[in-house]
Amino acid sequence: MQHRIIKQVPRMLFGAGALGRLNELLPAKNGAKDWYLYVVDEVHRTTGLLDRLDLKPEDKLYTISTAKEPTTVQVDELRDLVLKENENRPAAVISLGGGSTMDVGKATAVMLNNEGSSAQYQGWDLVPNPAVFKVGIPTLAGTGAEASRTAVLTGPEKKFGINSDHSMFDAIVLDPELSGTVPAEQRFYTAMDCYIHCVESLRGTMINEIAAAYASKALEMCQTVFLSKGEEDKLMVASYMGGLSIVNSEVGICHALSYGLSLILGYRHGIANCIAFNVLEEYYDEHVVEMREMMKREGVTLPTNVCAGLKPEELEAMVDMTLRMERPLTNALGENYKDILTKEKIRELYANM
Ligand SMILES: [Fe+2]
Repeated sequence: MQHRIIKQVPRMLFGAGALGRLNELLPAKNGAKDWYLYVVDEVHRTTGLLDRLDLKPEDKLYTISTAKEPTTVQVDELRDLVLKENENRPAAVISLGGGSTMDVGKATAVMLNNEGSSAQYQGWDLVPNPAVFKVGIPTLAGTGAEASRTAVLTGPEKKFGINSDHSMFDAIVLDPELSGTVPAEQRFYTAMDCYIHCVESLRGTMINEIAAAYASKALEMCQTVFLSKGEEDKLMVASYMGGLSIVNSEVGICHALSYGLSLILGYRHGIANCIAFNVLEEYYDEHVVEMREMMKREGVTLPTNVCAGLKPEELEAMVDMTLRMERPLTNALGENYKDILTKEKIRELYANM
């Protein structure tokens, strides 16, 4: 296999209270017309987090709904609104929220400098122009969006990432104090996204020493947090390292199945992964058992029979979505994955969820 050239986030601030030093990461404003765009999950209207931002009069804050997975339409509309309501482009885009908000922030920063619809850029290295300078500030740990080049969006026909050197953050702030505002179930499902990144990375054929180093440490941190009660800063570091692990390798069968669940049933990424992972004991054995133990300790119960009411064409769309995930499936099962994970097998796995 040919090795990929890996890009990483060049600047990072880590630690409790790091948000207070955000200004040190931002590009200087040139003149009175320069401003920063804050893209914030609307839940933070009531969490008190907005009061901690040092917004200047010229800066603008747009809140976004994350009730559903981010879409190309949502990004295009936000970009159009920002361009309509402001004379010039922002000097920086700052995203504050979970994976969805960070993905919308990344994609919006890309779309402010690129023509057309974000749906045109879903894929590998399709973005021609550099994005506006962008900063990611996770308030929820697990997705790894802060570490990766990917901005995952649901488009008209597929859920797929804008995956480009231009869609990676220029700086991130990892402040464990920010993750205390999240409901327990959401915290758990998002953390399991990280856990699953690590398992899929370690069990995959595209694993290498760098990815394995990140993944094994991040996995251990998730285990500490959920099996012997670790601190919140462990989860934030695990999320980042789990993200770095998949940047250097690839996800696997669970993510391929979960994309189908999100596309058709609208499940958020974290819970979709947990639903899918729960039926993958034959591939990820002791880790599936371990996730169930973590769920028990956290008092989390997964929905069951989630595919029961599906129309046949909806199920087929989910199967097709799964099979589109060529790299993750190749990583998990090798080049001839279609012989192993047949359409029939995928239908069977969905039926068990
Ligand atoms: Fe994920």
